Amino acid sequence: MDTIVSLAKRRGFVFAGSEIYGGLANTWDYGPLGVELKRNIERLWWKRFVHDRADMVGIDAAILMHPKVWEASGHVAGFNDALVDCKSCKTRHRADHLIEAQTSERVEGKSAPELTALLSAHNVKCPICGKSDFTEVRKFNLLFRTHIGPVEDQSSAVYLRGETAQAMFVNFKNILNSTRQKIPFGIAQIGKSFRNEITPGNFIFRTLEFTQAEIEYFIKPTEWEKSFDEWQRGMEEWLIGLGVEDEHFRIREHSKEELSHYSKRTIDIEYNFPFGWKELYGLAYRTDFDLANHQRVSGQDLTYFDSETNERYLPHVIEPTFGIDRTFLILLLDAYHEEEAPTAEEGETETRVVLRLHKELAPIKVAILPLSKKPELSKVARSIFDELKQHFVCEYDETQSIGKRYRRQDEIGTPYCVTVDFDSLNDNAVTVRERDSMKQERI
Ligand code: GAP
Repeated sequence: MDTIVSLAKRRGFVFAGSEIYGGLANTWDYGPLGVELKRNIERLWWKRFVHDRADMVGIDAAILMHPKVWEASGHVAGFNDALVDCKSCKTRHRADHLIEAQTSERVEGKSAPELTALLSAHNVKCPICGKSDFTEVRKFNLLFRTHIGPVEDQSSAVYLRGETAQAMFVNFKNILNSTRQKIPFGIAQIGKSFRNEITPGNFIFRTLEFTQAEIEYFIKPTEWEKSFDEWQRGMEEWLIGLGVEDEHFRIREHSKEELSHYSKRTIDIEYNFPFGWKELYGLAYRTDFDLANHQRVSGQDLTYFDSETNERYLPHVIEPTFGIDRTFLILLLDAYHEEEAPTAEEGETETRVVLRLHKELAPIKVAILPLSKKPELSKVARSIFDELKQHFVCEYDETQSIGKRYRRQDEIGTPYCVTVDFDSLNDNAVTVRERDSMKQERI
């Protein structure tokens, strides 16, 4: 992880947030290369799951939603984590994480008193000071609260959305009325969500604000198992398509106790991170939980009328959910390679770092590298840049030795380098170097 975090900073993928003020813990800013990679992930996701499917439409909803949305969804009452403080060293922890890390028990869904009892029964130790002296476990709501208007009272309180999903439920009728979609169909969204996490960390793995790409797929209740299986395959194929090694991820079924308040069945797609197997994505069968609750609380009819069978019913929902920041992280981890490569000196090698990113994901597709800064070479190289930039994201770089410039492009995952040399002035040809094989071809 340290290697990836330092590469991310050095090359401008990800910076610590508000760094010149000492940073704001667990906030991160995507830099010039990071924003390209992140947008490429989002663009590919949107193409695959929205544009390439006739049964999918997208939305881009407001982050601030009516507070009743979060009451109806169950988040105000049930979106809690279990917090515990070490009395000895005054550090704060998630009780469930402490117990799961030090025992073989899975404890999601357990009440605060049950967790307090487990901490003491297993003699769980503080990972910072090693003592077993904790406060009682308390439940803590993850929704970020803010206020609309100048007066901060209860009536002006709103929440930043804790998941993008709710906007798809509250817009269900709008989509039915404004599009030609019929069940089964899905609504997709990519956007920021916010959670006041007790223990964020591991770089961009768990942060306070993060980007989710979510789909709410509306189905006939009897179709849920078939749809669930199709979406599981769809999620796995997405990862394979991005070039992620299949032995690096696995499926984990949630136990009954662990299921979220809205779910009848959930699986996590876990990735083998340097800090262990952890959730990358989720797939949940949310039944009609959300539509039924929004119908009840809003008083609006959210049923669907099937004109072929003359049936009226509340659709059920399969929800594939993807964390974009976690996708970003695993793509860096999966793509990172160190290998021996020949230097300019005959018979000598050096270690090169190469990001073997899928070409569609690479932030820069082509680097144009004149051999020297001589004006006659720059002129030709600039004209190649101007032509290629119409089709690809390109970078123009004429400083440092050509070897160093190749290494820099390898390290940021650029698939092709185009070198312009003095022969180019006569033969109208350039050298194209491919990142992974390092093969050079004169064309
Ligand atoms: N709508 C369902 C939902 O939000 P979730 O498992 O709580 O389910 C979905 O979140 C995905 O969002 C996760 O699989 C993960 O990729 C991402 N995610 C959740 N919390 C996150 C956090 N604090 N930081 C970064 N990504 C997060």
